[in-house]
Amino acid sequence: MTKFNKDLPYNSLPDLPPRANLETSTVFKATIKANKLLAELKGYCQTLPNPEMLLNTIVLQESKESNAIENIVTTQDELYKATLMGDAVKNQAAKEVLQYRQAMYWGIEELTKTKIISTNLLVGIMQRLRNTSDNIRKNSGTKLANPTNNTVVYTPPEGENTIREKLAKLEVFINDDVFSDLDPLIKMALIHYQFEAIHPFSDGNGRTGRILNVLYLIQQELLGLPVLYLSHYIIQNKSDYYRLLKSITEENNWEEWVLFVVNGVAETSKMTLEKINAILLLKQQAEIAIKSEFKASFSKELVDLLFSNPYIKISILEQAGIAKRQTASEYLKKIENLGWLQPIKIGREVYFINHKLIDILSK
Ligand SMILES: Nc1ncnc2c1ncn2[C@@H]1O[C@H](COP(=O)(O)OP(=O)(O)O)[C@@H](O)[C@H]1O
Ligand SMILES: [Mg+2]
Repeated sequence: MTKFNKDLPYNSLPDLPPRANLETSTVFKATIKANKLLAELKGYCQTLPNPEMLLNTIVLQESKESNAIENIVTTQDELYKATLMGDAVKNQAAKEVLQYRQAMYWGIEELTKTKIISTNLLVGIMQRLRNTSDNIRKNSGTKLANPTNNTVVYTPPEGENTIREKLAKLEVFINDDVFSDLDPLIKMALIHYQFEAIHPFSDGNGRTGRILNVLYLIQQELLGLPVLYLSHYIIQNKSDYYRLLKSITEENNWEEWVLFVVNGVAETSKMTLEKINAILLLKQQAEIAIKSEFKASFSKELVDLLFSNPYIKISILEQAGIAKRQTASEYLKKIENLGWLQPIKIGREVYFINHKLIDILSK
């Protein structure tokens, strides 16, 4: 094997599984804990009466955070405004975040149909999140730089055939049962590194690789719904994320990376469960308050709508068949008076924000 040189295309990147002892007792213990917490999250989601209501906001939050890792930064406010604007979105970062969400939903739908995570699926995700017809890299010159001082840290493999061969090997590792004695969470860590090290696209590799994680959890039936994401954890441990990817390439240091990912799954499962709990509690409180004011005209669908669209406007109530324009407007005004919505004016239109929900989501 040729020695790694950060300035030369790493065409000798080894295929998975790595030649390293992955199941040390530290990793083993961490894996048990993470699996337990993840199973709890999965089970909890199965008991929810209307889990789709939560997905909208959870997936959007992940889209925001996964983009933020790549310095595509948007505020909560810009982003939610954008969700209401359709094609009129001008803010480039918000646009990319919305594309990311679409790309993720598309990927999940494809996976549900085929059960397979293929190169084409990954290409399709990258094309959607970047809104491009770009494909696997053909040209040379792609390098990864340290985001703080811009020095080159890694040069990924070059040549379309080489890249496609490595992706094909990765595809086998993901989908075939040959390596099934490895714990799926450990495999997820290996897969993420491998995908990032192949770095098949000129851009969008980080974001596609993070969508790949959740697709893999769904494929392995560790999750029924796409609710667990590592982006928040990665942002909080950003320098470790970069350092550990690098130290696999340079020092074959897999154990620390696997621990990083597995502990991330544990921590994030716990955080997500708490967040969903907090949202449901808030929703119950809103229901009680709104019911006592609306009496016979109360509808559960209206509250569901406020919790799947934290920024709302009259036409959304109309579209959902909850009320005609005049009545819908009165409803929102009433809820505002109860203290459960805050109005804001964007252009000529008035929007209402479920600010208490936004507080929980952005925590
Ligand atoms: N040393 C490294 N080795 C392999 N992959 C890395 C390394 N450092 C960073 N990465 C990955 O590269 C990603 C950035 O690649 P890029 O194509 O710009 O993604 P995006 O367009 O989604 O921003 C990071 O999010 C990370 O996953
Ligand atoms: Mg990028």
